[in-house]
Amino acid sequence: MRLGVLTGGGDCPGLNAVIRAVVKTASHQYHDEVIGVRDGFSGLINNKTHPLDLNRVSGIMPRGGTILGSSNRDNPFEYAEYSGGQTARKDVSGVVMENYQKNGLDCLIVIGGDGTLDIAHKFAQQGMNVIGIPKTIDNDLYATDTTFGFDTAVSTVVDALDKIHTTAESHHRVMVVEVMGRDAGWIATAAGIAGGAHIIIIPEIPFDVDKIAQKIYERKGRGKNFTIIVVAEGARPVGGERTVKRIVEGASETVRLGGVGEYIANELERTTKIEARTTVLGHIQRGGTPSAFDRILATRYGAAAVYHVHEGHFDQMVALRTPKIIAVPLEEALHQMKRVSMDGSHVVTARRVGISFGDGIDLA
Ligand code: F6P
Repeated sequence: MRLGVLTGGGDCPGLNAVIRAVVKTASHQYHDEVIGVRDGFSGLINNKTHPLDLNRVSGIMPRGGTILGSSNRDNPFEYAEYSGGQTARKDVSGVVMENYQKNGLDCLIVIGGDGTLDIAHKFAQQGMNVIGIPKTIDNDLYATDTTFGFDTAVSTVVDALDKIHTTAESHHRVMVVEVMGRDAGWIATAAGIAGGAHIIIIPEIPFDVDKIAQKIYERKGRGKNFTIIVVAEGARPVGGERTVKRIVEGASETVRLGGVGEYIANELERTTKIEARTTVLGHIQRGGTPSAFDRILATRYGAAAVYHVHEGHFDQMVALRTPKIIAVPLEEALHQMKRVSMDGSHVVTARRVGISFGDGIDLA
């Protein structure tokens, strides 16, 4: 067979490990050819492809990013064309179908988050043989226990929190660390627990600045003159909205989030008169060498995807249902977002050890 592979959407650690596993499994087990598609679906719009063989993927496992390049702006069903200062949206899915044929592809392995996999599903409905692999540091894809990239991102945040701790303690400050995750608070919650945060603010639990201040005072009462707060970029106050940094025309996600950490720090400084500082970790969370967990998961996904291609399981996505990797229909996978649950083990555990979610429900 001749398998196409592309990486779409925001990058994350482990993409190269998946590409490597696809090429290795395809070559060793099935004697398939693999064609790399450049920069997500844009590579099939502009016909930018090249062969991927064992030598090409040698040594790429520890590298962050993707050797294929990625894009989160090139949705072929709503392709943005700029002329005379105007943006027009065009459906160029026919061009993608033509280039898929021209490259002699028998199937396309699409490594992406919800946006990219949604596009993949639409092509499957048009007759393309597609199989998806779930990626995102946000871990917000419903049908899988976890996406690769999440574990590494959490480790990066924990490393930052360990460093923030010492300076917070020295200066008796409130330190607010803003992390990614869009509308899901997985990175904030997991890293907050592992990094010993005192307060975790997530989109799923609207916050109240006075309740956050209460926790700071409670700590102060015990002689703890510093506080670490992890806040997810998509968090919002009770009765309020997310903090939007700017609107980006042409992007698949037009809303760029950012600034809620600074908002909370300013409000706390104003109301408590305790010094507060903000650190925005940003795209650092998307880079770096993948953790061992992500390397293993990425390899399992890549190898399983090639297996499912040969079983003819198209319009599906590989997913981790511990301890197995299974294939689930893309339709089902995209049906719903996975968000942090108020009654889930993460939140309950955090509350049990005295972490506040800025909502005044404190078990300890
Ligand atoms: O979806 C992954 C993610 O890293 C989000 O957590 C974040 O909001 C977004 O991508 C940022 O994307 P961009 O690459 O457009 O800055």
